[in-house]
Amino acid sequence: MNETSAVLVTGGAGYIGSHVAWALHDAGRRAVVLDDLSAGRRELAPADAPFVEGDAGDIGLVARLARDHGCGAVMHFAGSIVVSESVAKPELYFRNNTAVTGRLVEACLEAGIERFVYSSTAAVYGQPESVPIGEDTPLRPINPYGRSKLMSEWMLADAAAAHRFECVSLRYFNVAGADGRGRTGQVSPAATHLIKIACEAALGRRDGVEIYGEDYDTPDGTCIRDYVHVTDLADAHLAALKHLEGGGGSLTLNCGYGKGASVRQVLAEVEDAAGRPLAVSGAPRRPGDAVSLVADAARIRDVLGWRPGNDDLATIVSSALEWERRLQGAQPAAAEA
Ligand code: UFG
Repeated sequence: MNETSAVLVTGGAGYIGSHVAWALHDAGRRAVVLDDLSAGRRELAPADAPFVEGDAGDIGLVARLARDHGCGAVMHFAGSIVVSESVAKPELYFRNNTAVTGRLVEACLEAGIERFVYSSTAAVYGQPESVPIGEDTPLRPINPYGRSKLMSEWMLADAAAAHRFECVSLRYFNVAGADGRGRTGQVSPAATHLIKIACEAALGRRDGVEIYGEDYDTPDGTCIRDYVHVTDLADAHLAALKHLEGGGGSLTLNCGYGKGASVRQVLAEVEDAAGRPLAVSGAPRRPGDAVSLVADAARIRDVLGWRPGNDDLATIVSSALEWERRLQGAQPAAAEA
């Protein structure tokens, strides 16, 4: 299989998956979208991409889709992503993230798919003793979400060691922003992510923003994260696919910019972009939160030649705000073919 083969995108109607489906579309690649629509929306994925509503852990379905559409690679985004929910309901994360990934690997082996790009997370590191965080930092997740993703990384690595099967696992830092052409963005009705919540507040859709912990050991007392624009993240997936198609072997790479921003800095940026103050209040620390997560981002630049074009917090925030305005004004932009 080569560049003419299709790519099966699980979770391709969700936030990150739909951006990658559009990036494949824009690059002239065929994407096949599989999504159970538990969090995604059909209209967020490109209209010309075959869409199947179903479970990424359904081995028979995945193997059939892969054969019917001539898929040479899988990009796996389907899963659960909310750290605090994982603390309350770990079993959900072990099923939706770990078990589903295991079954998806079986389906790939059955269908002869040899290339896999996995949506992993900085949460596999837990709270390392020092930042920035290189890929060789000890893996000590501090919440079930991180553990569910780390177990998946290990299963993929074991499959890669045993079979003709190569995997790039991308460990995302904090993904935010939206497609520059307004075709997709974050739609979850019950947002938990800081930038989305702050943008909703800036547009009057919620009363204000709570800061979960102001007594951390950081310059302003609030947690620090490395925010990455979703368009740059999508580009990294295409670069990972190219790497595998060019005969490159399995890799694990951080996907972040290597720049940290505190919760307060993010809120100030949203206030700037919106041109109005936010009603901000203090709240207790959120269970499962790490203090500071900032990538050492050298390897992905070296190995994949990744050159992010939006690595600036103001750009990310204005893109997220623009999408929220769009959502407020109407439905998400109709997906264009
Ligand atoms: N925060 C607030 N108030 C809010 C929402 C968030 O203070 O209303 C704070 C959080 O406590 C945290 C920071 O903002 O300190 C970022 O929180 P998010 O919920 O936006 O993102 P997380 O850092 O919890 O998690 C995200 C992804 C994970 C990924 C992780 C890696 O959801 O998938 O980044 O950095 F693992």
